[in-house]
Amino acid sequence: MCGIFGYIGKNNAKEKLIEGLENLEYRGYDSSGVAIVQNGQVHIVKKAGKVCVLKDELMDSDINGNCGIAHTRWATHGLPTQLNAHPHTDSKNTLCLVHNGIIENYLELKSEYNLTTKTQSDTEIIAELISKIDEKKNLDKIKKACNLLKGSYALAVIFKDEPETIYLAKKESPIMVALGNDGVYISSDANAFKKYANNFYILKNNEFAKISNNNIEFYNKNKKINKKTNNIEKTFSFENKNKYLMQDEIMQTPDALKETALYFDNFKNIKHYFDNVDKIYLIGCGTAYHSCLLGKKYLEFLNVPIFTEIASEFRYSKIKPSKNSLCIFVSQSGETADTIACVKKCKCKTLAITNVPNSSITFNCKKTILMKAGWERAVASTKAYCCQLLVFYLIKCLLKNEKPKWKQLVSSCRKYLKKNNIKDISKKVLNFEKIMFIGRQEDYVTAMESSLKLKEISYINCIACPSGELKHGTLALVDENTLVILISTKHSLHNKNLLSKQEIEARMGCCFVASNIADSKIELPNLSSDLLPILSILPFQLLACEVCISKGYNPDKPRNLSKSVTVE
Ligand code: F6R
Repeated sequence: MCGIFGYIGKNNAKEKLIEGLENLEYRGYDSSGVAIVQNGQVHIVKKAGKVCVLKDELMDSDINGNCGIAHTRWATHGLPTQLNAHPHTDSKNTLCLVHNGIIENYLELKSEYNLTTKTQSDTEIIAELISKIDEKKNLDKIKKACNLLKGSYALAVIFKDEPETIYLAKKESPIMVALGNDGVYISSDANAFKKYANNFYILKNNEFAKISNNNIEFYNKNKKINKKTNNIEKTFSFENKNKYLMQDEIMQTPDALKETALYFDNFKNIKHYFDNVDKIYLIGCGTAYHSCLLGKKYLEFLNVPIFTEIASEFRYSKIKPSKNSLCIFVSQSGETADTIACVKKCKCKTLAITNVPNSSITFNCKKTILMKAGWERAVASTKAYCCQLLVFYLIKCLLKNEKPKWKQLVSSCRKYLKKNNIKDISKKVLNFEKIMFIGRQEDYVTAMESSLKLKEISYINCIACPSGELKHGTLALVDENTLVILISTKHSLHNKNLLSKQEIEARMGCCFVASNIADSKIELPNLSSDLLPILSILPFQLLACEVCISKGYNPDKPRNLSKSVTVE
């Protein structure tokens, strides 16, 4: 979703800002813009569409300066037009700003303060408010305006009367600052700093920063404060070998699993966190929620009630976990708004499983298990999903005092991906109007995740159904235009699954079996039943990617989706 980048230093800001925005592109956006200070004047360039459109115009222009702010916008209030893109200015043109988050009371503020606006964006209200406030110091204007805002914001502001200074403000949406060799960098995503700095500062809620060339000052609501730096995680390097990031990221799964398993040694004391727990809640969204469903299978031996919850639902449910509950939050990005809302709701033991250190979820949870999947930039989550499942498996082994067999998992994954023969199947998938994934138990979860992967990047209408539920209604959808992919990895259930195949074929539907058991159309890795669920998704991640590419789409940037869903 929206991204902020800023730079003030020795070099040309426009190159830095474009590079920064390119690094934020993976999060999803629909317009972008920059404000650059040149000889005391602030120049704004905004464009609907891709960053490359903005880049072309900016690089051809005479705008040059050493200080600027930039933004990628994911439309929430108002269409994704050039007008609604950030930066926004106030009507007197005294300042410009970029904003991540949502101002919930912007309409109330608009009428209460009699503000006029030219765009449909909630952000413009912030610019108007700041400029209306009668304070001498610009920082105090921002502080006072922020006091009036309800909702979430990360703000970067440049004032016309103080053009070589960037102000920041933060509530709920992330914003960070890094001191590099050639200047100060600002970003809403620490990944964007990797090239420039080794450590960075993270603003907490209701904190502010005043940044000028090589000087960073931090403030809370009352006074100037000192802050400690955090290290920038330079994960092992993953080479880009394929045309698309999603292809690379699937192929990185063996290394991501290995690094995650090795790093898990740092979290062994988590074992005691499970002592005296009387209920476990596993909470996440989308793919991360599917990890929770499989996580439950790994933890069922504990014999305590385990609930799996979709974060966007759970945040509004009447259920409040009791004091002795353990809530486990799964989130690749660590920034998903619905999941964060659930963390805040749960006043009990809280544990995050995430891929991003220093993310909001890690700050809000009492404990964290960090995965080492490496930067996942393609919107569809692949290697991170496998690592989330691995973490649940490792927790199970830890609690049961079993030696984890992760080396076997890694080598099987490597072998499987080398063989990758999903191309033929993907061609066949294109012949069908409707696709259905079915399975039982762990395989049903894989079916759900497979269906999500295929629909999110190839826009094919597909669903998942537990095999045994077919005959309770869903079979009505099966006809000669339907392909059912039956996932079957359990010996004890294989014959039952084959009955479903017959039911489908009797209705002229086509059924491909995906299995590690007998001769099957789609071969699954040959692994023991506790490890296989971690990898049984591989052929379907590959399939989704292939189908998407053959339909002429870019799997890394699916329509209407964002990598980090930071708003509700
Ligand atoms: C699908 C996908 C999404 C995310 C979901 C939660 O491929 O990536 O469904 O899993 O938006 O995101 P995180 O894990 O960052 O909380």
